[in-house]
Amino acid sequence: MDIQKFKQDFPLLQKGIKGKPVVYFDNACQTLRPLSVIEAVNQYYREYPACAGRSVHKLGELVTKKCDEARKLVADFIGAKRREEIIFTRNTTEGINLVAHSLGLKAGDVVITTDKEHNSNLVPWQRLAQKIGIIHKIVPSKKDNTFDLEAFTEMVDEKVKLVSMVLTSNLDGVTIPALEIIKITHRHGGKVLLDAAQAIPHQQINVRKLDVDFLAFSGHKMLGPSGTGVLYGKYKLLEELEPFMVGGDTVEYSTYKDHKFLPLPEKFEAGLQNYAGIIGLGAAVKYLDKIGLENIAKQEKKLNRFVTKEIEKLPNTTIIGPSDPALRGGIVSFYVKGVDPHQIALILDESSNIMIRSGQHCVHSWFHAHNIQASARVSFYFYNTLEEVEMFITNLQRTVKLLT
Ligand code: ALA
Repeated sequence: MDIQKFKQDFPLLQKGIKGKPVVYFDNACQTLRPLSVIEAVNQYYREYPACAGRSVHKLGELVTKKCDEARKLVADFIGAKRREEIIFTRNTTEGINLVAHSLGLKAGDVVITTDKEHNSNLVPWQRLAQKIGIIHKIVPSKKDNTFDLEAFTEMVDEKVKLVSMVLTSNLDGVTIPALEIIKITHRHGGKVLLDAAQAIPHQQINVRKLDVDFLAFSGHKMLGPSGTGVLYGKYKLLEELEPFMVGGDTVEYSTYKDHKFLPLPEKFEAGLQNYAGIIGLGAAVKYLDKIGLENIAKQEKKLNRFVTKEIEKLPNTTIIGPSDPALRGGIVSFYVKGVDPHQIALILDESSNIMIRSGQHCVHSWFHAHNIQASARVSFYFYNTLEEVEMFITNLQRTVKLLT
């Protein structure tokens, strides 16, 4: 993979900030966007800024066609059987909420998550537990923060209606054994929802091979525009679900008394949509197809191996998750005893335009349970290089020395 060539597609990497290069290591939050995505968004606003699915004029027709193409691209990208199984959302959070509020869960129904869920896959279940009495169970991870399949297997029974889990953790980069989890859950009659926000930009996911029931992900972590997301669901399941957000463009007709919902996917896409974003997401998928997810994963692994070795040499420093970087994808989350991770992130940014994330990464529950204040997190993407990692390490060593 010619990284220098691909780097040219990212304006920020070309221009830098105030003439100084940018080292962007906050890809788990949002990736950068290539020109093709930016141009697709701009083209919508410049040339055909109209509504899809409503107006019969040529602009309306063009938006409908472009959004439909984007839906097909996304469907093919994840191996979905039909494009109607792709529901456009604003983000992963919305996809998870859609399932939480449409599945018809009742008091006593069990929902299982892991112990390191993003708030988006924790708070919805806590609210349903408080409001309607579902039972939320949590599988504790192993000591090294990897998934405990044995503990999970013991927990699943016929009361489990949904297993909703983060496929790749934004905290430490660990991926769970989804195939086994899905098989076990199905054996007991439950459904599985995967939060794939952190997985989909880095690994090939085939929903049919996995036989997963629902898959939620965000566009902005996979080169797409902010505020775009997808909920995949098996056609039959989606057909049976009640939409939880209703209104414009979800119904075929209405009277003063009643209404009839449109078929999939419209019944779940209420109100005027983010057409520019959807079309931009289609462009992002095309770009990812061009690069190849296996090439992305390979580059991240290489960088993670190198950075892990160097971080391990720092005094009083702990890496969250397994010590083997191959098990942490493109993420290294670490903390240095007595040092505020926000200070590390601020100094790296101020001194050398190196951007990492610090804090609890929306996984507050895990940090509270482990009595750890916060971490500094480096998250890579394919446009990151060994030279950038070397620069990061030199600056990190200096920063840690300064702060201890
Ligand atoms: N979940 C995103 C992150 O980990 C926002 O940075």
